[in-house]
Amino acid sequence: MNRKKQQFVKTVWEYYSTYGRHNLPWRKTRNPYRILVSEVMLQQTQVERVIPKYREFLKLFPTVQRLAAAPLSDVLRVWQGLGYNRRAKFLWQAGQEIVSLYHGTFPREALNLRTLPGVGTYTAGAIMAFAYNQSVLLIETNIRQVFIHHFFSKNETVSDDAILQLIEKTLPESDWREWYYALMDYGSFLKQRYGNMNRKSTHYRKQTTFAGSDRQLRGAIIKLLSEKNVITTAELQSLLPNFATERIVTQLFCLQVEGLLCKNNERYQLP
Ligand code: ADE
Repeated sequence: MNRKKQQFVKTVWEYYSTYGRHNLPWRKTRNPYRILVSEVMLQQTQVERVIPKYREFLKLFPTVQRLAAAPLSDVLRVWQGLGYNRRAKFLWQAGQEIVSLYHGTFPREALNLRTLPGVGTYTAGAIMAFAYNQSVLLIETNIRQVFIHHFFSKNETVSDDAILQLIEKTLPESDWREWYYALMDYGSFLKQRYGNMNRKSTHYRKQTTFAGSDRQLRGAIIKLLSEKNVITTAELQSLLPNFATERIVTQLFCLQVEGLLCKNNERYQLP
């Protein structure tokens, strides 16, 4: 490793030893089920909002068996407040596959993890690193931030391939779990302090506006269903006066196709 990379590694560890978020609840476990739950929740939801939900979720579904045996409606109910309800369904389906295809034992190979619903390259890698302490190459928004800040600050654009090469070159010889926690914490700090560098990344996707969006409407429908059990289109219209009827009808249909609600006798309910 050259001098610059050695200095970089030292800076990351120093930041982590002084300011690292060592008490995040999912960092105190090596249980792959708990790690999966945390990572699915942390996709697009802030750490502070995830902490209480993570605890609540695991109180209700302490094992993958308990999750797989629960009705989806129970999972969607605890999910309220996290957004992106499809993630809850994927997590529940992943639980069912682990029970039915793997007899409840979590896969130990990234390739098998990747076949689970809602588990992409990042989430599979996160389980490999955080549950099994394996030397995988892991990239997500905070990690990108760190490498762009230190190695690509003058570039207009940066590809993940270029960042991954540096991740590989600076990877420690052990303690991969701690190294990636350190990178994430340092990246989160850099983002707050210097602004989001990920705009330079060719993988950067700006979050779409929430107010008035289909995402907001879908979230509002699932939230109402989780509170009221059954509901008619007319009731939904009066409860969602800011959304046009056609939009409500369209999203009801989409949610039904996606398996997030059921329709019986013109009434809707959670599946
Ligand atoms: N610790 C482990 N995974 C994390 C993530 N995705 N975001 C923040 N902290 C984490």
